[in-house]
Amino acid sequence: MNPRSFDRKELDLDRRAVPFSWMMVLMLGLCSLGARAQLAPTPPMGWNSWNHFNTTVSDAIIRQQAQAIVSSGMQAVGYSYIIIDDGWQGTRDANGNIQSNSKFPDMAGLAHYIHGLGLKIGIYSSPGPTSCAGYVGSYGHEIQDAQTFASWHIDYLKYDWCSAAGNPQATFLKMYNALQATGQTITYSIDRYGMNKVWSWGASVGANLWRTGEDVKDVYYEMAEIGFGQEGLELFAGPGHWNDPDMLQIGNGGMSENEYQTQMSLWCILSAPLVASNDIKAMTPNTLRLLSNSEVIAVDQDALGIPGKRVWQQGPLEVWVKLLADGGKAVGVFNRTLGTTPIPLRFKLIGVTSPVDARDLWSHADLGLINDGYVVMVPVHGAALLKLK
Ligand code: GLA
Repeated sequence: MNPRSFDRKELDLDRRAVPFSWMMVLMLGLCSLGARAQLAPTPPMGWNSWNHFNTTVSDAIIRQQAQAIVSSGMQAVGYSYIIIDDGWQGTRDANGNIQSNSKFPDMAGLAHYIHGLGLKIGIYSSPGPTSCAGYVGSYGHEIQDAQTFASWHIDYLKYDWCSAAGNPQATFLKMYNALQATGQTITYSIDRYGMNKVWSWGASVGANLWRTGEDVKDVYYEMAEIGFGQEGLELFAGPGHWNDPDMLQIGNGGMSENEYQTQMSLWCILSAPLVASNDIKAMTPNTLRLLSNSEVIAVDQDALGIPGKRVWQQGPLEVWVKLLADGGKAVGVFNRTLGTTPIPLRFKLIGVTSPVDARDLWSHADLGLINDGYVVMVPVHGAALLKLK
């Protein structure tokens, strides 16, 4: 949201009608919303260490993965944040400053290296005394930790509830204020596993993205339960503030290619952050294909920033639609059954009343001008992603 500009006459009128202090509060609020939208105008894209490397993460791993993001071409299609998840923390020094552990000998040096590749660096902490994996958290040291992260030139913080207690809104706001006070622009990702309807207040505590549920495991049924369960949350996300159904598991080995294609297609329709979490250095060509299809990613990164929603369902067959900035519609067609199934796409059900040009985004194939419907053959647990315009 951009603060609109006022002309002089309007300002004079406002001055008469609204006490000055309230006007300042309003202006500051508008400016802060505008600033947040600039920070994450489209859903953040990047890579996170947790799902594959867990607590074995190290400086060397981060450097290697960052290099692979560049050399694989993933950076060129938009992946920009390299996020160090849980497991980097050491102890606090005598002054209470948080230090990295021996696997991260020089955090500022690592950030400098990542920036030199044209990427951004993210880090992880918890508002509780300990993180989910038992490392030291930011509780009682919020301002100090924010200052430390800023001194390392960190661009993104994932702040994960874990051992925290108390009012979640006040707790997350405390760190947001601490980050703001550093004067640096730090993308703020909060993790409350979808509890307390975090989507309804995440933006008000400064979050650019908030996790809407539990961790997405590398298992189709669990990924599908979380992904298809996002319906209704589309009302709460937009430029600068996004629903985060969790990382992509693509390439981690627990799902079939069709199932990973379902996750990517659904996440793009949902305007979800696209955070890969596999071993980028050792990925197969198929994993790269699934992670880096530019036409598919363009659906996620569409400038309008309106998440899609389910428009049709017949048991395990679903059609989701996302409106795009160029007037087109991205259509996700999903088969949750165990057999290849023809899925009818009736245009009038998705608000298309005149013939449209259709394109298959995964295969980059034009399907020609289509009148009022189309039958899509979708494989077991698979997905098709079309664009109608
Ligand atoms: C929680 C989060 C995960 C990951 C781990 C780290 O489970 O939801 O994404 O950050 O903690 O311990």
